Amino acid sequence: MGPVSMPGPTRRQWLARQASLAALATLGSHVGAATAASPAATSAAASAAGSGASGPAAPLVRRIPSSGEAIPLVGLGTWITFNVGNDTRARDACAEVVRAFFANGGRLIDSSPMYGSSQPVIGHALARLGHPSALFSAEKVWIGDGASGPAQMEASRAHWGVPRFDLMQVHNLLSWETHLPRLLAMKAQGHLRYVGITTSEGRRHAEIERVMKTQPIDFVQFTYNPVDREVEQRLLPLAAERRIAVLVNRPFREGELLRALQRHKLPGWAAEIGCDGWAQAVLKFIVSHPAVTCAIPATSQVAHVVQNLHAARGPMPDAALRARIAADVAALA
Ligand SMILES: NC(=O)c1ccc[n+]([C@@H]2O[C@H](COP(=O)([O-])OP(=O)(O)OC[C@H]3O[C@@H](n4cnc5c(N)ncnc54)[C@H](OP(=O)(O)O)[C@@H]3O)[C@@H](O)[C@H]2O)c1
Repeated sequence: MGPVSMPGPTRRQWLARQASLAALATLGSHVGAATAASPAATSAAASAAGSGASGPAAPLVRRIPSSGEAIPLVGLGTWITFNVGNDTRARDACAEVVRAFFANGGRLIDSSPMYGSSQPVIGHALARLGHPSALFSAEKVWIGDGASGPAQMEASRAHWGVPRFDLMQVHNLLSWETHLPRLLAMKAQGHLRYVGITTSEGRRHAEIERVMKTQPIDFVQFTYNPVDREVEQRLLPLAAERRIAVLVNRPFREGELLRALQRHKLPGWAAEIGCDGWAQAVLKFIVSHPAVTCAIPATSQVAHVVQNLHAARGPMPDAALRARIAADVAALA
């Protein structure tokens, strides 16, 4: 990071720049190599790779503020990409994506009862891989009738084949007033490790903000990428202030952002931060925000999951380069 610059033309701009620099200065204390900060992630990468020290370098991690547990900066989403039904070859292809995910040090997989057959497809993959101990399972409860929440969560658990979920989120705030107290009670009883809420595409941010201010949640999930930056104004600073971990969904706008960017040559700055593709540049922009804990891109392809995990390694953009990435992406997308 460069030296602190002189105040800009207005006090407001200068304060914003100081806040950004101060936030980035904390990056070093919250981000670390999994080797140092998270033995679980390290052993997961090594054992899944099956070759110990010769496996890929462990991804960088960030700590969940409520516990101090470290998780890799890039996870795996499953909406659409894992909704492949009963087709055996398609399910096996998803299992290979999950195998590559763990082999490259990944841990957090996100799903929802809303995602069609994704839950049983995850279960199929986990069974094939012998239930990797590195797994950090992130599920959602998504049902209007609060009384039906427990049955839905139990069905999800059976699909995954896990003893309990690490994180349970209220999907799109649906009936959160009923679900959240139950999830917090389940956490207190040891049936869950973390509790969260989600939204996407900029929806209901005022309500998310209210929940973040008033409820003892561990995680929040929303959309953030170089062209969807509204959360920089209130939700990301609030997450940092309230010590709430942040999962970022739709990093590629469901792939649309990458399709637009891939028509353009990668700018020269990409090499400075070790990116050999637009996907990595977009992910590095996202995870270098100090309030972000983990981005969860979805993919159906082994090559893509390897690329995406690679974004959690190597140098990260500083404040000036983050601004440049956002400007370039906005101009090209
Ligand atoms: N409200 C909520 O809670 C909520 C809402 C939306 C999403 N989510 C979560 O967030 C996850 C991610 O969001 P999303 O699935 O909407 O979209 P996304 O991750 O922004 O984009 C997924 C698309 O990007 C493509 N892709 C991924 N990696 C790539 C790479 N390296 N190079 C080129 N293309 C690549 C994938 O195609 P390929 O298959 O060809 O790689 C796929 O079509 C979801 O799966 C879900 O888990 C949660």
